[in-house]
Amino acid sequence: MGRYTDNPAAVAALVQPHQVHRDTYVDREIFDLEMKHLFANTWVFVGHDSQTPKKGDYITTQIGTQPVIMVRHSDNEIYVLLNRCPHKGTKIAIDRSGNTGKFFRCPYHAWSFKTNGCLLAIPLKKGYAETDFKEGEASHGMKPVGAVKNHRGFVFARLAQDGIGFDEYFGNSLSSLDNMVDRSPEGRLEVAGPPLRYMHNCNWKMLVDNQTDTCHPMVAHESSAGTAVRLFEQANWPEDKPKPMAMEIIAPFMSPYEFFEEMGIRTWPNGHGHTGVHHSIHSDYSMAPEYWDAMVETYGEERAGQILGESRHNTVYWPNIMIKGPIQQLRNFIPMGPDKTLVESYIYRLVGAPDILLERTAMYNRLINAPTSIVGHDDLEMYERAQEGLHVDGLEWINIQRLHVEDEDFDEEAVENGTTERQMRNQMHAWSKFMTMSMTSSQEAAE
Ligand code: FES
Ligand SMILES: [Fe+2]
Repeated sequence: MGRYTDNPAAVAALVQPHQVHRDTYVDREIFDLEMKHLFANTWVFVGHDSQTPKKGDYITTQIGTQPVIMVRHSDNEIYVLLNRCPHKGTKIAIDRSGNTGKFFRCPYHAWSFKTNGCLLAIPLKKGYAETDFKEGEASHGMKPVGAVKNHRGFVFARLAQDGIGFDEYFGNSLSSLDNMVDRSPEGRLEVAGPPLRYMHNCNWKMLVDNQTDTCHPMVAHESSAGTAVRLFEQANWPEDKPKPMAMEIIAPFMSPYEFFEEMGIRTWPNGHGHTGVHHSIHSDYSMAPEYWDAMVETYGEERAGQILGESRHNTVYWPNIMIKGPIQQLRNFIPMGPDKTLVESYIYRLVGAPDILLERTAMYNRLINAPTSIVGHDDLEMYERAQEGLHVDGLEWINIQRLHVEDEDFDEEAVENGTTERQMRNQMHAWSKFMTMSMTSSQEAAE
């Protein structure tokens, strides 16, 4: 046992109002505690229900580092089960996705389980007849996670049996997810293919921090977005000709500091928050007239105007996803180790909207987030340099002080200058809360 296990005071001391200790990003023991406490006590994104449209459809993924299966049962409900056979531990499913029919069958000794996890059959079951097998946990089948909630197609789960409820955990932050779904004239999203997957050699929180870090684009992306803007200027593009889609996407990355200051950042309790309160890098995308017509048909002019008037940039759902409403995208930062994170970038189709919107969404993902993109690599380079730099001795703290004021209250929703680091402070405040809530202090444990 190291110095942080069962020592909530030592863990809490890693987060100060204006700085965070480097152990939160580099220490193996802290990472293991994050998996055990933070990722167990919070509501973590699992998948979208359109990834499992038919009964028996499943995907495999992780909540923290715990392997889980999301599956559609015969009652049409989505279940989230731990991916582990109750017999001897074998992972039941290893494909990223598939259809298992009416039941899962373990490949080792053929125990089978209904798609809600219940034990269905065991070969040669009479071997247990004279035992108290029925009393043991193996007889319960594949174990479900503590709680599951499907919010308008987005499936979240809490590993812990007891804990904070879904609505209390997310509160008003659900307005960002709702806005993304409302952008469909049918109020429905569908996943568009598998996500782009991209391994990052850095801590998962570096990616989360980056989502509301508005002082980096004009610097870190100068070599990619800046070059694109300069080349486009040289092209003498006629004023009356629509700008190429790629330029609409990439040019706003070079907006000046004032643009980002004025865009605003909103924070919500429990570590959630978003950039782009007043405008964002997605505000000036051209509108397909037939899309506007379809939205007005469904919602009426006023409501359609409100829905599309929101151009929230990045919304962080603590701990580890970000969504972009205006281009129907979700990025999942899956922790693999203190210095390893698997990033999955999903895109969705707005059901009932013209194809051009999906085209823009897919182009954004390729240009900005793909392993073959030109923008995401700028960020990756910075994360990896920081992950290495944090091992330098003599400096132990990471600064999150920009626009910090005394006595910030993270239980209150707030809107501030778009270059504040308040959202990073909000995240670490929530980190501390959910890390320590189920830890016993070593003193208590000794009693
Ligand atoms: S390990 Fe699964 S049936 Fe034996
Ligand atoms: Fe970036």
